[in-house]
Amino acid sequence: MAGKKSLSALIDHQFGPRAAAYVASAVHSSGPDLAWIAERAERAQPCTALDLGAGGGHVSYAMAAHAGRVIACDLSDQMLAAVAETARAKDLDNLETKACDVCALPLDDGSIDFAASRFSAHHWQDLDAALRECRRVMPAGATAVFADAVSPGTPLLDTHLQAIELLRDPSHVRDYAIEEWVAALQGASFAIQELKRFRLRIDFKPWIERMQTPPDHERALRSLQMQAPREVAAHFEIGEDGSYTLDCAGFEVRAI
Ligand SMILES: C[S@@+](CC[C@H](N)C(=O)[O-])C[C@H]1O[C@@H](n2cnc3c(N)ncnc32)[C@H](O)[C@@H]1O
Repeated sequence: MAGKKSLSALIDHQFGPRAAAYVASAVHSSGPDLAWIAERAERAQPCTALDLGAGGGHVSYAMAAHAGRVIACDLSDQMLAAVAETARAKDLDNLETKACDVCALPLDDGSIDFAASRFSAHHWQDLDAALRECRRVMPAGATAVFADAVSPGTPLLDTHLQAIELLRDPSHVRDYAIEEWVAALQGASFAIQELKRFRLRIDFKPWIERMQTPPDHERALRSLQMQAPREVAAHFEIGEDGSYTLDCAGFEVRAI
């Protein structure tokens, strides 16, 4: 029967067994967005940095070179075990893990002087609550960076994007439009310092394999792509094999 698992349980179910794939993933272990976050951590030289939805830990490893201490938080214990093991292999002794939901951080007010999140917010049950929680644990003036896939905004493109994301991964919640991000960040008392746009080519096969999308969902996804109107196919640059180009954005913000 459908609907047995909570969103948190579904996320754990989707990501936990794929921890090794996320540590190894080329899309996650490199890219201009990761370099963009690392530059901001280098500039901030924080005492304590927080990675919200650490996944395979790539933001945490990048921040560990510039921070006194890094806390990698994630819902998934298995994901965090893989991060801890990789940190040991990389001799990163300033990285610790914390199993928690970003909507309820077990951290003191003002205890984090740099926060980052990448490719996780589209899974959060309540973006506004998570951003407020992030703001709570930061002192005024501290920097946070959020990078994620974003909706291109128009209903036509938005509907296609959310549909293929959901078919690939049932724990998908929403790729927010830039305007939605701006409203949520401002509502959580963050002032936007920089908005950076990225376009990321998604190779279909590793994208599906990483999440172990069931064959019936993969067929439905490919069917949607093949029947997509010309405007959708052109925007997402949908290839013969289902590879496509995803809009992403990075927000550098200051706690006010
Ligand atoms: C695609 S992975 C993140 C990739 C990683 N940040 C990187 O840059 O390589 C998404 C992660 O977000 C985590 N996640 C989703 N919702 C969460 C929540 N509410 N609280 C904490 N972690 C969450 C998932 O467990 C998963 O490990």
